Amino acid sequence: MSNNILLKDKNNLIQFIKKTNKFTNGPKVIEFEKKWSKWLGVKYSTFVNSGASANLISINILKELNNNKKEIILPAFTWSSDVVAVINAGFKPIFVDINFENLALNENLVRKKINKNTLAIFITHAMGFNGLTKKFVEFVKKKKIYLIEDVCESHGAKLGKKKAGTFGEISNFSFYYGHHMTTVEGGMISTNSKKIDRLAKMKRGHGLLRDSQDNNFIKENIKKRKDLNNDFIFYTEGFNLRSTELSAVIGINQLKRLNRNIKIRNQNHKIFLNHLRGDIFFKDFKLKGASNYGLHLILRKKNSNLFKRILGILDRNLIEYRLGSLGNQIRQPYLRKFKKKSYLKLLKNTEHMHFYSVYIGNHQALDKNRIIKLCNNLDKI
Ligand SMILES: Cc1ncc(COP(=O)(O)O)c(C=O)c1O
Repeated sequence: MSNNILLKDKNNLIQFIKKTNKFTNGPKVIEFEKKWSKWLGVKYSTFVNSGASANLISINILKELNNNKKEIILPAFTWSSDVVAVINAGFKPIFVDINFENLALNENLVRKKINKNTLAIFITHAMGFNGLTKKFVEFVKKKKIYLIEDVCESHGAKLGKKKAGTFGEISNFSFYYGHHMTTVEGGMISTNSKKIDRLAKMKRGHGLLRDSQDNNFIKENIKKRKDLNNDFIFYTEGFNLRSTELSAVIGINQLKRLNRNIKIRNQNHKIFLNHLRGDIFFKDFKLKGASNYGLHLILRKKNSNLFKRILGILDRNLIEYRLGSLGNQIRQPYLRKFKKKSYLKLLKNTEHMHFYSVYIGNHQALDKNRIIKLCNNLDKI
């Protein structure tokens, strides 16, 4: 990302600050949540202070909906907060490999891991790709397994006419600075379930009943608890993961540009793929319904020398990149107890991404000539 907060965002924020005396979670947060729900195509949304917080709350909600099942299937090619949310809530993470085409869970492998202990599938729509198929969504529904969607990197990706983040019981988004739109820091939890929405809002605010924003539910529960102060009924295990009115104001403004920015990101990605060598790099991505996040260089074949030379070209041209893309989380020190050789063998594509891929930032201000120049430099290899 070069600059995602424009002068008009700053001016808008200054105008807001001049006239408001309310800065904590308030009417602007509610307005942003409503506008976000409409844009996404869901009934309810909860604005939180990060995508990681959205992950944390979502998996914590599963603890309340749980029927004693203990396993959650997820990719190892994801962000740490997805895995941490699962472990933190006391569930067992079951890691499954990904496809190169959309960098998402391999559905056939997921099917093999499902058993009577499977509570949920926590899919990551990674790097702007839609990670689901209609067949798989139907299959998960039939099995009565929860589907949780992490869409933190893929705002606006689609399966058919519907956006990613509308298929599962809960979906998560991040508005971190480098993403498709930003609130500086921020995240969203979206759902079509009133019960889940109530839990998300309470868990965001210390678990307090009054934060559920559901008057009938509040009245009913106050009646049941005469021994407690009405305003301080800690109904559910909660955190403080609220954002502020300031971030919501930025978000409302940024949302207006989101569709346009997605279009430019996808155009950039196509230019990149059109100019990139197909003999060296993997280019067969599922572009339908994508909302590109980054420009990936994935070697077709394992070749450490070639990979080193590619990194050399990027270094010499001062092109910033992230090695291994999201990488294999199992290799990270915080998951050392999962790092068994047998496990790594099962995650072949994840391992390939870890050792033979990099991505370069894509964003709405990236100019076509710079993308072509990058590809021309790589062509010389
Ligand atoms: C897939 C995924 N999930 C969750 C997060 C966490 O979001 P945040 O940085 O807003 O906490 C990220 C971060 O970018 C991410 O890429």
